Amino acid sequence: MHTNVVIIGAGPAGLMLSHLLSQNGIDSIILEKRSRKEIEETVRAGVLEQGTVDLLKETGVGTRIEHEGFEHEGIYLQFGQKRERIDFPSLTGGKKVVVYPQHEVLKDLLKARIEDGAAIHFEVNEVKTHAIHSNKPYVTYTPVKGASEETITCDYIAGCDGFHGPCRETVTESDCSEYEKLYDYGWLGVLAETEVASDELVYANHENGFALLSTRTPTLQRFYLQVDRKDDINLWSDDRIWTELKKRSDIGDGKELKDGPIVSKNIVSMRSYVCETMRKGNLFLAGDAAHIVPPTGAKGLNLAISDIQILAEGLKERYHNGSENLLDRYEEIALQRIWKAQRFSSFMTTLLHTDVKKTKFERKIQESEFHYLVSSEAAKRSLAENYTGLPIEWGRALAPQYS
Ligand code: FAD
Ligand code: DHB
Repeated sequence: MHTNVVIIGAGPAGLMLSHLLSQNGIDSIILEKRSRKEIEETVRAGVLEQGTVDLLKETGVGTRIEHEGFEHEGIYLQFGQKRERIDFPSLTGGKKVVVYPQHEVLKDLLKARIEDGAAIHFEVNEVKTHAIHSNKPYVTYTPVKGASEETITCDYIAGCDGFHGPCRETVTESDCSEYEKLYDYGWLGVLAETEVASDELVYANHENGFALLSTRTPTLQRFYLQVDRKDDINLWSDDRIWTELKKRSDIGDGKELKDGPIVSKNIVSMRSYVCETMRKGNLFLAGDAAHIVPPTGAKGLNLAISDIQILAEGLKERYHNGSENLLDRYEEIALQRIWKAQRFSSFMTTLLHTDVKKTKFERKIQESEFHYLVSSEAAKRSLAENYTGLPIEWGRALAPQYS
């Protein structure tokens, strides 16, 4: 078997890359270790930046987002019982975000790729990359456990296999540049059958810890609570979850969050991580395979999509004009946006979480940061600009040969 690009991983990065390549007449094969059902049912992100939504619409996979996504023109920031709104359109020249679940984006992309006759191999095992420094790289895998190995030769390999996939290990096992920060806390994510808690997302800091009120449908809501990173989910009964959600989001107006059956709950740990070496030979890393942000700024999926836009343009230039100039600049352009998203996610995380290790002085600075943010037009504009998504063009501008 031969193809132009072997894509490892059918998450947002892998599927979007395959979609964009196909629109430009470039062949790819996707290898994915999970089943289609599992991919389509895993609950993760919820907030799409304006640029992500625009790209999905422009490339023909935005019909459901248009009808089923919820446009949000702002968010609420809450410190103690003080809740303030940040209005995106007035601060950014009209930008918004859309609340539309990640697994629905994946359903839309999978449907489009499969209808288009794409080669996507689900539930594969033992995916390995080979000869990445040659111009004849190849990937081996077994279609089912114990079966004989299959080989796909290609021009390029795209490692879109998330934070725990094998591609980053291939990059980091020799000389590479990595940066990491771990947090003492994690997020307990909940899906609950109840009414919408707020017309827009609420990011709340409370002395007991952070809480986030988000939504999925008029009857299904997504909530998050800051917990200890080593907390056991079994210590979090539904009653305890509701008590904390109510306490942390209370603004003293007598209106209590309405509870209901909790249909899923899990804890995710938080880290900031960048592997600056995003290319080794003909293997490229994109999305969570190359970087992780703490979820407080809703940046991970959006960053995966912008990596892919840059990588797809590089591959288009290579196949249409025979030049690797843009591909050579992939890392440089992508990292501009990645570090700015890291900066914003780290800022939002530090602003909104309660860190018991903070001194009384640091807690005062955190409170003052919040008051500055909600008082200053300039600070609000900065938050709105980052939350709705920075332009990819900024990265390109810093790479002068890109045109
Ligand atoms: P992934 O989604 O991890 O996809 C990688 C794929 O590779 C998977 O399908 C995996 O099965 C496959 N794979 C792994 N190993 C192998 C292998 N050996 N062989 C073959 N395939 C393999 N981001 C936002 O932008 N907005 C949000 O609101 C937001 N909220 C979040 C909330 C939570 C609780 C969490 C955990 C994350 C959130 N994110 C958010 C982050 C977002 O979910 C991720 O950044 C995004 O999924 C990254 O996409 P990806 O394609 O790079 O990686
Ligand atoms: C959601 C997730 C986030 O990380 C965030 O910042 C906002 C919303 C969500 O899953 O709805």
